[in-house]
Amino acid sequence: MTILTDVRLGVNIDHVATIRNARGSMYPDPIEAAVLAQNEGADGITAHLREDRRHIRDEDIDGLIAALNIPLNFEMAATEEMQKIALKHKPHAVCLVPEKREERTTEGGLDVLKEETKLEAFIKPLNNAGCRVSLFIAAVPAQVEAAKRVGAAVVELHTGAYCDYYYESKHSNCEAEFENLKKMCGYAHSLGLEVHAGHGLTFETVGPIAAFPELKELNIGHFLISDAVFNGLGASIKKMKKLIEEARTS
Ligand code: PXP
Repeated sequence: MTILTDVRLGVNIDHVATIRNARGSMYPDPIEAAVLAQNEGADGITAHLREDRRHIRDEDIDGLIAALNIPLNFEMAATEEMQKIALKHKPHAVCLVPEKREERTTEGGLDVLKEETKLEAFIKPLNNAGCRVSLFIAAVPAQVEAAKRVGAAVVELHTGAYCDYYYESKHSNCEAEFENLKKMCGYAHSLGLEVHAGHGLTFETVGPIAAFPELKELNIGHFLISDAVFNGLGASIKKMKKLIEEARTS
């Protein structure tokens, strides 16, 4: 039996805020969800302040920072407005994602290669402020190499396509995407980058990804909040943690 080092579970609480915002009400409170997640074994909390504030809002960041004693991973687009907010709050981590107003969720990875000069300058003050900068990218060697060049400490590999193929029963595409993610996890690690993964992961799809030897963190949101409707957030987190742990020890 091989036992690998632990993989952290970052719980994304954006969709608690989405439900709150749907009615313009005060509940459910994403901060209460984050504290509950912390108490139930989450290793970190992820929250995305989008340009249109459809998930968390500015005032939620203060609340999260005050309430949490686990790391906050602040997801944001590489814009001047967001950089100012990040530098004001100095969260443990900043994850840069592409953002389009019309998209339902973060649809693709960041094109680091295309925006190399801009991103290098953008990341520097965040690094200097002590934020661990992560780039959310597709599992493509040129993007991994560019992430290293621009000074990111971490890459988060986009698992959305792997999950979509899994649920569409496109077995050969799913297998090919999986193998590619596995290879890129090893490659990014070999360049000295810390490797995370996330997007679309569920109880059914998490295990094979969690078993990548070099992986350090998984960020999961939509499925956990969905499962929590039926089973409660604590139970959903505990089950996800157990599946991740099992994948590391089998
Ligand atoms: N990682 C990143 C960078 C993301 O943008 C998202 C979605 O906000 C996730 C992970 C979590 O994806 P999901 O909500 O599908 O689990």
